[in-house]
Amino acid sequence: MPPAQAAIFLVVTVRAGAEEAVRELFADIAGLTRSVGFRVPDGELSCVTGIGAGLWDRMFDGPRPAGLHPFRELAGAAHTAVSTPGDLLFHLRACRMDLCFELAARLMERTDGWAEVADEVHGFKYFDERDLLGFVDGTENPDGAAAEAAVCIGDEDPEFAGGSYVIVQKYLHDLKTWDALPVEEQERVIGRTKLSDIELPDAVKPTNSHVAQTTIVDPDGTERQIVRDNLPFGTFGSAEFGTYFIGYSATPDVIERMLRNMFIGNPPGNYDRILDFSTAVTGCLFFVPTADFLDDPPARDALAAAVPAPAPEAEPAEPAEPAASPVSDDSLHIGSLNRSTAR
Ligand code: HEM
Repeated sequence: MPPAQAAIFLVVTVRAGAEEAVRELFADIAGLTRSVGFRVPDGELSCVTGIGAGLWDRMFDGPRPAGLHPFRELAGAAHTAVSTPGDLLFHLRACRMDLCFELAARLMERTDGWAEVADEVHGFKYFDERDLLGFVDGTENPDGAAAEAAVCIGDEDPEFAGGSYVIVQKYLHDLKTWDALPVEEQERVIGRTKLSDIELPDAVKPTNSHVAQTTIVDPDGTERQIVRDNLPFGTFGSAEFGTYFIGYSATPDVIERMLRNMFIGNPPGNYDRILDFSTAVTGCLFFVPTADFLDDPPARDALAAAVPAPAPEAEPAEPAEPAASPVSDDSLHIGSLNRSTAR
């Protein structure tokens, strides 16, 4: 997944009683994306849809994605990762903003009367893939098979295999204070060099640098990765400049570990210095179902019926045969976790 040139991040809340309308919209998202995107063959328009925990419970019975829960606020000694409302996320990305804008318009037309926009950010690609702090953002993202493994739910949750989780946070930067720091100091905050984007050697890289705090290694030495698709945004009139953080992962736990390091600190108190210049003003967690699920979302009782009834005797015994995954093998691609594309 190459970095987006333009994106609209739309988080909406859904009024009570509109669950059937959401179900109908889900089934039409792929078609709407084709209608907008097909006219610009090289535009690479796509839309990823995420479902928040509260809306999931209103829409579906039966099994629930194992990692789905509301975003958990993290209050550190100095900074807090806030949790804010959000029932649906639309992550619209393309090579051109007009494509994102047109698809957002078509989606908003459909949600008119039953959804409110809780947060909306129009992100743009900035020079050399840089954020507004001036650093190249996204370098250490995994790609290919490593990205798929990092992002796609596997056999650990067979009913939802091929899906994913996404966490979004809108960060506002204090650019005046940041720009007053010498470049060498900025590099110690991020943990990489600014111009050449090279990671600082361990001996020099502070333990409270962003890169140090977000590098997660399991006890067996395995590094846990996520796929980020951050973009800068800004408006001069309101003097709001920031980074929209969006991270996909096969389990929210990995991103939550990064967030704990950043906000609480590792060890506690030793928090990520990027937060002294960047404030999180939103925070939401969504489940990202497969394209097949979205095309034909199960009715309330259909999903419940798919769960094998519990055995009458409470014998622990053999685990039941996992229900056949609704996902075909070739949907286990990061590019198709309900990523409706134009072609
Ligand atoms: C103010 C918001 C943020 C900004 C401006 C930012 C910027 C950056 C930059 C410049 C890098 C170094 C280059 C790269 O590998 O991408 C980086 C790395 C990284 N960031 Fe962020 N980031 C932000 C928030 C977050 C959050 C909230 C998370 C996770 C919860 C996160 C996770 C990571 C990870 C995993 C890496 C790669 C670390 C490595 O393996 O070297 N970032 N970020």
